[in-house]
Amino acid sequence: MQILYIHKLMGSVTVHIKSFGCQMNKLDTALVTAALKEAGFVLTDKVKEADAVLINTCSVREHAEQRVFSHLGHLKHVKEEKPEMVVGVIGCMAQRLGKGLLDDGVVDVVCGPAQIPQIAKLVKEALGERKKTVAVTEKIRQESAQSTALEEFESVYDRADKAIAGQAYVRVMRGCNKFCSYCVVPYVRGPEVSRAPGAVTEQIQRLAGQGVKLVTLLGQAVNCYEYKAGEKTYCLADLLEKASEVEGIEWIRFVTSYPQVRFYDEILGAMAGLKKVCNYLHMPAQSGSDKILAAMNRKYTAAEYLAMIEKAAQVVAGIEVAGDFIVGFPGETEEDFAATVEVVRRVRYKNCFVFKYSQRPGTTAEKRLQDVVPQDVKRERNIRLLAEQEKISGELAERFLGQKVRVLVEGPSKKADVSTCKEKGYKQLVGRTAEDWIVVFDGPERMAGEFAEVEIERTSPLTLFG
Ligand code: SAH
Ligand code: SF4
Ligand code: F3S
Repeated sequence: MQILYIHKLMGSVTVHIKSFGCQMNKLDTALVTAALKEAGFVLTDKVKEADAVLINTCSVREHAEQRVFSHLGHLKHVKEEKPEMVVGVIGCMAQRLGKGLLDDGVVDVVCGPAQIPQIAKLVKEALGERKKTVAVTEKIRQESAQSTALEEFESVYDRADKAIAGQAYVRVMRGCNKFCSYCVVPYVRGPEVSRAPGAVTEQIQRLAGQGVKLVTLLGQAVNCYEYKAGEKTYCLADLLEKASEVEGIEWIRFVTSYPQVRFYDEILGAMAGLKKVCNYLHMPAQSGSDKILAAMNRKYTAAEYLAMIEKAAQVVAGIEVAGDFIVGFPGETEEDFAATVEVVRRVRYKNCFVFKYSQRPGTTAEKRLQDVVPQDVKRERNIRLLAEQEKISGELAERFLGQKVRVLVEGPSKKADVSTCKEKGYKQLVGRTAEDWIVVFDGPERMAGEFAEVEIERTSPLTLFG
């Protein structure tokens, strides 16, 4: 505490924060950042200048954890020259590994997803008292672990000064109860808890007041949102309706959807009926083989999944669907994989994320099934599935040639300098359509956070160029 005070007199205490995970993880990073700023810390993007470095982590695949360990290896070197620097690990790996993270001496603070409201205090203590702290609950699956402190933290620190201008994530539920056999999320994020509709709506109103135009409602199985208040049961469709009424909000998206029939008609009805709700559905199938789906503990067959997609296409004109697949799940044969390819062909996704199965400690798949598909077979199936998807994405993208699309501009693209209108001071910008197509075009940087009409001149499977 004292050191922080002295630092403050001399200058400011700086903190660097890096996010390695999904949208939930990025939202937590944004909340933590706001909380740290309010506690008097100054953010820096340079590790070497930071008094404290925080890493927000993901456990979903082994690779995600390896990236964090290699980053910690790098910080170990930095710490040799700057032993007073505090290193904190927050998020899902903190929950999974707990005090084990202290083993190699680099990490000072370990803070699980349910303890993030304490983060500023923990970092201050670590800076001041030089002691190692672990704030992780062992009872993450008990609803009481998801304290009211988390709810308060969420509503106090949700700010619009996020990485992407004009956009914000709003969590509508925490945790997950699906227990897909391969997945670590239920163990690190706890049980499903839906937030009160009033709290969600108030938050959206506040964000709109700060200039947010696109809100993305977040949940691991967001379409399973369910909140009982007296006689009434609220579902995601109710939230979409309430969000639609908020002035200033122009687009509403929600991710990720679990293929369940309950509430589906209501949600499709909201998409079709409410102009602000984007016609974008991210609903992972994970596999096209019924045998593998059963082994994954996904509660549907390929035929049921396809029927749901077909219904969405009938009810919501112009809907675009995105998906996730896991290849090389234990026992996946060539025939099972062929069934997956067939689903990709039938659905004609806008885009798909394809992952090689990664065995996660503590999951039922890890306990009951052997990771038998060889790495090179996983890799090869991954490439084949992506190639199949790329063909489809390329064909879908071509429809946009010569068309004008409305995009919400995010800011300079990764290749901002390739602008052909440099004489006007333009950069290459990137934005997305309501249906999540990525659009690249030249324009002034100040358009970030604004809507633009862009005429498409060229297309590729993942990007439209205007
Ligand atoms: N709740 C979301 C996202 C979960 S994590 C959902 O269910 O859709 C994002 C994706 O990671 C999952 O959709 C799945 O495709 C993938 N994934 C999860 N666990 C994995 C594992 N053990 N190995 C490989 N991919 C995994
Ligand atoms: Fe994991 Fe399944 Fe929950 Fe998604 S729905 S977070 S894949 S357990
Ligand atoms: Fe997200 Fe990874 Fe945790 S996917 S919820 S950061 S395990």
